[in-house]
Amino acid sequence: MRSATGRWVTGDDFFGRDRELRVLETRVRDRNHVLLTGQRRMGKTSIARELGRRLECQDWVFLFTDIEGATCAEDVVASIARAAHPVRPISSRIAIGTRRWIGENVEEVSALDFGLKIRAGLDAGSWRSFGEKLLGECAAHEKPVLLVLDELPIFLKRVLRDPEGARRVDEFLSWLRGALQAVGDGSLSLIVSGSIGLQPLVNRLGMPDRINYLDPVRIGPWDRETSVGCFLPLAQSHDLRVEEGVAEAVYDALGIGIPHHVQSFFARLRDFAVMHRRGSVTVRDVGGVYRNELLGPGGQSDLVHYETRLRDGLEDGNYSIAMEILAEAATQGVFAPTARSRLGRLYSAVLDDVSGRISDTLEVLVHDGYLEPGEGGYRFPSLLLKDWWCARFRDHHVPLRDRSEDERGEGSPR
Ligand SMILES: Nc1ncnc2c1ncn2[C@@H]1O[C@H](COP(=O)(O)OP(=O)(O)O)[C@@H](O)[C@H]1O
Ligand SMILES: [Mg+2]
Repeated sequence: MRSATGRWVTGDDFFGRDRELRVLETRVRDRNHVLLTGQRRMGKTSIARELGRRLECQDWVFLFTDIEGATCAEDVVASIARAAHPVRPISSRIAIGTRRWIGENVEEVSALDFGLKIRAGLDAGSWRSFGEKLLGECAAHEKPVLLVLDELPIFLKRVLRDPEGARRVDEFLSWLRGALQAVGDGSLSLIVSGSIGLQPLVNRLGMPDRINYLDPVRIGPWDRETSVGCFLPLAQSHDLRVEEGVAEAVYDALGIGIPHHVQSFFARLRDFAVMHRRGSVTVRDVGGVYRNELLGPGGQSDLVHYETRLRDGLEDGNYSIAMEILAEAATQGVFAPTARSRLGRLYSAVLDDVSGRISDTLEVLVHDGYLEPGEGGYRFPSLLLKDWWCARFRDHHVPLRDRSEDERGEGSPR
């Protein structure tokens, strides 16, 4: 099992998740369309790809496309076509009628060019019918087909920035639902996945029914046993000896088994051992590496994307509120009801509907795994995220209770 801290993992590098894979496989085999959610870096893409890999071994067709960069429905449809390019009967059939776009035979163009040519041929008037035909060909294929649309919520968020965004999101989601209904119970199963909450997004837009045909499956963190179980084979395959209790100390320092954090911790401990020319690490090393490496400059860059994601995922006003809530929860240990009402009063002068915004923001922060509701308020389940946020805001976050109502800007994080 190779150490991995960047992209998704599959095959020999993929650890555990047996139960989640079983649940997903059952749904997919029953031709239920699935909404796969979970906090970022929890392993959604890995699970979807690993499921696809396993199904391919059983004669399924697996089509995967990441639509994080798509800006319009035409992009999404073209990226599905590109994923389908290697599946000849499907791509040949969809190429019929598109000769003038594609020019040559399907066999003679690469998947990339195929996608580009289809994209160039699509416009606001044609993507719906072409997309429906494409999904129809997948459903009519002789083998069962699993199609994964990864990062759908990021695509929708981007569309929402357009003045006509809400209408376009509605148009896309209604089309997807309608197209899947139209192709019926053929051999196509869809998994839609992403970390930014799709459900909160459609709720806010007042269109929850657009995704109610998707069966939600949520991916949570690894428990202690699984996190320890993943750490040991990693150490073994990288010839790193670990003192008894190291893997447990890693889990306890993290506070929660987010697979990517377990992997990052391992990678930093290994770097530490290499740097100090040591073949083994001790429980004592774990604390030092946590403070100096995971929370240090190297680790910081790993965590910055959490903030970027929030900025991308929230409206501007709600982003400021999210930063206040996270700074408070990190530095004070909890975002308490008293802090919540104080925050509402502080921001009511500059934002409309502050209490609605605070509720929406909390919903996203909980959905995306930053905070957990509990006794006396909201807290970070991940000690790493808490400590990181704390290091980031310690010097310029004034606790909400100490702020007078005219100094909102003073203590607010920048
Ligand atoms: N099943 C797994 N086994 C081992 N490592 C994993 C597993 N799932 C996730 N990871 C770790 O988490 C990282 C992020 O995984 P990814 O699938 O991209 O998450 P997501 O799509 O939820 O953001 C991987 O690079 C890897 O380090
Ligand atoms: Mg992913």
